[in-house]
Amino acid sequence: MKSNVAIRGQFLDIQQLVEQAEHIAEQVRYLKDGLLLIQDGKISWFGEWQDGQQYVTDSFHVEHYPDQLIIPGFLDTHIHYPQTEMIGAYGEQLLEWLDTYTFPTEIQFQDRDHADKIAKIFIQELLKNGTTTALVFCTVQLQSVDALFEEAEKYNMRIIAGKVMMDRFAPEALLDTAESSYHDSKALIEKWHKNGRALYAITPRFAPTSTAGQLEKAGQLKQEFPDVYVHTHLSENKNEIAWVKELYPEQKGYLDVYHHYGLTGKKSVFAHCVHLEEQEWDCMHATNSAIAFCPTSNLFLGSGLFPLKTAWQKQVKLGLGTDIGAGTSFSLLQTANEAYKVQQLQGYSLSAFEAFYHATLGSAKALDLDDKLGNFNVGKEADFVVLDLNATVLQQLRQSTTKNIEEKLFALFTLGDDRNVFATYVYGQKVYQRE
Ligand code: GUN
Ligand code: ZN
Repeated sequence: MKSNVAIRGQFLDIQQLVEQAEHIAEQVRYLKDGLLLIQDGKISWFGEWQDGQQYVTDSFHVEHYPDQLIIPGFLDTHIHYPQTEMIGAYGEQLLEWLDTYTFPTEIQFQDRDHADKIAKIFIQELLKNGTTTALVFCTVQLQSVDALFEEAEKYNMRIIAGKVMMDRFAPEALLDTAESSYHDSKALIEKWHKNGRALYAITPRFAPTSTAGQLEKAGQLKQEFPDVYVHTHLSENKNEIAWVKELYPEQKGYLDVYHHYGLTGKKSVFAHCVHLEEQEWDCMHATNSAIAFCPTSNLFLGSGLFPLKTAWQKQVKLGLGTDIGAGTSFSLLQTANEAYKVQQLQGYSLSAFEAFYHATLGSAKALDLDDKLGNFNVGKEADFVVLDLNATVLQQLRQSTTKNIEEKLFALFTLGDDRNVFATYVYGQKVYQRE
């Protein structure tokens, strides 16, 4: 097989990061007839077909997608793979939803076969939705992490994941201890962090389910392994926030609990942040921590409306997350669709280009991977998606009325989902093709 790959077609990406939403449109790069050259999994050339065709020698395997739109792979900045089977669990808000549905679902990961089965389905769902990188919660059981990384390794995917640390307020079968969570996480870091494209995240579930002793251990791990990630939940639901204040009265607020134990920073990702207070926004900015905005989850659990405009004003890094299984779709297209509605309810009209930014380069920045992923710049890893904008009769009709790429993209976000993903490439190799 030829190891060099040349992809010809219509391309769309964002050339560089911006500090204000108003500047995104200036960074949109749209090539009607473009060429992407890939060598050893990385982008070696990108530009107009006319300018690049001279470089396409016999050593290249060439694929031409004249009717599709090729974009960087989506990055999902917050998702729980063990919750794949429980999407759409009825009737509860966060704390009751955890007790009623989530913990019983996660207990099943004691069984390695179950973990393998769900990991397989999960990775397939990511790929068929055009998601090539994700920051993933596993369960408290060590083997849940092995199951996921082993499955992702088959496709050479850049997955960030970690074992849940949780030593109180959950069923006995799901509890570790401060000590055991430290040793197990450490063993997993040594096994998986930077093993191929795998990366590790220290993953305390959220402040209520960790004792101070456990958060201290999490902070110790972060000190010992400064380049691993920290991944947790923050300020999702009003009852949750009140509970944290009761459990940690000595801290100034919810985020201050994590900050106190050294868990904020440029590789820290906090899911939700729906109800942050002023000083918490300032702390997020000052520590260069990132937010995973998860609109389908925030709507499904009735958690609240995330204020995207404030994130721009406060200059806090932000990516999109599906938060499966509180979230209701693996699709970042559908996630962008719901993000638009959540912002409409607050008088802010999220543009198609801004949504696209958050789902690609913005999420890459939130995951501190913008030097490797998020657009088609030379040297980056070749993870990308080939989209079909006309996957249904209704989409064809709607797209026939659009006048430019921005309108096409907005219609795609509104009506699109996994049916629009024609093919997915990871590290230059096609790993999914729609039937
Ligand atoms: N907070 C603590 N655990 C969870 C979880 O599993 N899902 C969500 N959405 N929030 C949480
Ligand atoms: Zn979550």
